[in-house]
Amino acid sequence: MAGLYIHIPFCHHKCIYCDFYSIAQSFDKSVYVDTLVKEIEHRKDFLKGRLDTIYFGGGTPSLLKVEDVARIFESIHSNFSLNPDNEITFEANPENITKEYIQQLRDLGVNRISLGVQSFNDKDLKLINRSHNSLVARKAIETILENNIENISIDLISNLPYTTLSSWEENLRIFLEYSLPHISCYTLMREEGTMLDRLLKKEKLSLLSEEDALKQLDLTMDILEENGYNHYETSSYAKPGFHSRHNMSYWTFQDYLGIGAGAHSYKEGLRMWNEDDVYSYTERINRGEFFSKEREEILEEKDKYNEYVMLASRMKKGLKDSYVKEKFPQYYSYFSRQISKLVKENFLTQDLTLTTKGWYLQDEMILTLALD
Ligand SMILES: C[S@@+](CC[C@H](N)C(=O)[O-])C[C@H]1O[C@@H](n2cnc3c(N)ncnc32)[C@H](O)[C@@H]1O
Ligand code: SF4
Repeated sequence: MAGLYIHIPFCHHKCIYCDFYSIAQSFDKSVYVDTLVKEIEHRKDFLKGRLDTIYFGGGTPSLLKVEDVARIFESIHSNFSLNPDNEITFEANPENITKEYIQQLRDLGVNRISLGVQSFNDKDLKLINRSHNSLVARKAIETILENNIENISIDLISNLPYTTLSSWEENLRIFLEYSLPHISCYTLMREEGTMLDRLLKKEKLSLLSEEDALKQLDLTMDILEENGYNHYETSSYAKPGFHSRHNMSYWTFQDYLGIGAGAHSYKEGLRMWNEDDVYSYTERINRGEFFSKEREEILEEKDKYNEYVMLASRMKKGLKDSYVKEKFPQYYSYFSRQISKLVKENFLTQDLTLTTKGWYLQDEMILTLALD
């Protein structure tokens, strides 16, 4: 299993909650794509074997012209071979979706779209500074379906400041109308330095109470599970066979190569990353500098164990006693003691799957399992 991630760090403007690396200033995107192509050529030997998954993430990949996406695919095909049963995901914002764009992406090999809807409620969308409204989001879903990409996921954010339990339920009901195979439901996070953070500091907005936030999460799990979606990771729900294979590879320690500004890569305990700055990234790659010890880290055994418990705790069936026994024998007795506590306190069932309390209080669970 090997995955390739391509980061497209451009957005039309910033949403108030978001601290993912992206810029809203104008930047010559074809220069950025030239740079991606150079990086792909130089790092093609990082991964062994065929690519199973490719993920175009952002930022907003759908701001790229289709000709630029085609150049990236050309480079991928000349430098890697692809598993015929591949998953190729493209993140898109609803306002960028047209029939032609979807058909062209599909012809290039894209077979999964992750659509950033965030909410079907116009008051929420306006508050968070999105460029689309609910109608545009619905039309985007319909256009993608009509043009034969059925593997669609949408992102929604619960607990936005104006979201009530009934408007959240309405969001989920609209999603269900389309029978899509996947949804990511994120809980609003307050990230330092974002506009949301500034508005909260100035008391121009307030967050929902923890009680209201938990009610939205509870409702999400109930409605989606009742309708045949498997809650397989903290924020992810899928119909059988439609989990995100690419994201699963991050959560289960498979190797992946990340290309582009801010992208991370991982191989056999070695983590590497590119700088979060599109200007210095393009200058560096165009000077022919592809690697630097400053941007890599070899994980020690304790880091690997901590990373394992952190990632595995996000998954429904993540924590495996036999895995820890085999991979981390030196920490196994500590792990067993902590696991017994978590089972006793009803975070985990006897077969180590997450209980509802475990889903709610994941951070507490991770702290219990991690080593200092
Ligand atoms: C990196 S964004 C890229 C997706 C795409 N640009 C978009 O906005 O539609 C991935 C997803 O993370 C979620 N997200 C980003 N910041 C968040 C925050 N502070 N709290 C909750 N969810 C967040 C949003 O749902 C977003 O769609
Ligand atoms: S949520 Fe998406 S569109 Fe909004 S700023 Fe973040 S990456 Fe850009």
